[in-house]
Amino acid sequence: MDKFVIRGGNPLVGTIRVSGAKNSALPCMAAALLTEEEVILENIPQVRDIETERKLLESMGAAVQLGYGRAQHRTTICCKTLSDPIAKYEIVKTMRASSLVLGPLVARVGMARVALPGGCAIGGRPIDLHIKGLEKMGATITQEHGYLEARTERLKGAHIVFDKITVTGTEDLLMAAVLADGETVMENCACEPEVSDTAALLTAMGAKIEGAGTSTIRVQGVTRLHGARHRINPDRIEAGTFLIAGAITGGDLIVDNCNPEHLGALIDKMTEMGVHVETLAPDQLRVRADAQLKAVDISTEEYPGFPTDMQAQFMALATQADGVTQVKENIFENRFMHVQELVRMGANIKVDGRVATVRGATPLSSAAVMCSDLRASASLVLAALVADGETILDRVYHMDRGYERIEEKLRGVGAQIRRLGNVFGSAQ
Ligand code: UD1
Repeated sequence: MDKFVIRGGNPLVGTIRVSGAKNSALPCMAAALLTEEEVILENIPQVRDIETERKLLESMGAAVQLGYGRAQHRTTICCKTLSDPIAKYEIVKTMRASSLVLGPLVARVGMARVALPGGCAIGGRPIDLHIKGLEKMGATITQEHGYLEARTERLKGAHIVFDKITVTGTEDLLMAAVLADGETVMENCACEPEVSDTAALLTAMGAKIEGAGTSTIRVQGVTRLHGARHRINPDRIEAGTFLIAGAITGGDLIVDNCNPEHLGALIDKMTEMGVHVETLAPDQLRVRADAQLKAVDISTEEYPGFPTDMQAQFMALATQADGVTQVKENIFENRFMHVQELVRMGANIKVDGRVATVRGATPLSSAAVMCSDLRASASLVLAALVADGETILDRVYHMDRGYERIEEKLRGVGAQIRRLGNVFGSAQ
């Protein structure tokens, strides 16, 4: 199992480039199931979850071609024949986003068998809202031996009101609705940029969608979709992680190839803390921190609120701020697994239900720590960048699910970080 060895203390200086958004790439790859023609996706990040999705699509009969050389972030997917519309447990057990193939498969071939998802250990994470929506569209769903099976002749347009805002649920049902018979109106939808990105691809494929990126989405179903070429949005969570890396190390960092508009809630909080964040270009931010940071509370919310996927990283930064920070996690019930590891590094954090209280600033010291989920890992890397001495971070496969060659990127701006073990990517 790979480990990172990180020696803290270096301010990060220079330019760091953001990859494409994993959470956009996953639904966009699933959207390729909706057509017999080729879908070409640019700016695909080379991370483990994408590799898992590639295997998943191939196991169902799709041809997936990865680009090489200069085109190494391009993926061409052709789902001409879908001989086996089954998402097998062996492939999907590490990735909850497998539920994203449910809607497109039923819409395209009238049947799907999907293993119930695994993924990050951050709470119950049910998919009842995906199921309810598909049932409303006329699918019959049964559950047996850890698999969901959905069947229908052709999905019918429906009026769906989500009980709770769900990102992949919105994407899954959107992908189902585009080939359904008639109009679908979805209310209380997720407004995350990843939903808009998926809708942009679907529109390029010939879908009729209005309102993506708002809480009400209207879809006029069509009988078939065609191939398309689409460029994936930059990853706002990776960009946010780099902004915090610049700030926590007291550096001067340019975060390149990002979309500042997607980072509003985070930038506002960092600015309140005393970090300078400046937009240099429509796709470039500069972050500098040259004074003692002040504690500022956060409360995670759906987009455009403060993202739950930045909560763990923000907590690492809060350990370096003067005063008391309250971090309230509203989206997932069990998303404080990084706390005990940060405490082992010298942080003063107490958890009470959904609220973590951080008292800072405390110096951090190196320790042997363990990654527990994707964003928790990022939080520990950030803490290690300012810790005194050498931190050994175990189980970095969690990190590899969503961050592309993070150690190389951080090393490029002055971090002392190296990987022990088999470098992810060499086997691709
Ligand atoms: C997506 C992101 C993940 C992010 C999360 C919230 C992907 C691949 N992952 O996850 O990185 O942390 O959004 O921004 O895009 N819920 C239900 N029933 C459902 C579905 C969800 O109760 O059928 C609940 C969940 O348990 C959770 C909340 O709704 O409490 C939000 O979850 P959801 O938005 O669905 O998260 P994901 O789409 O899985």
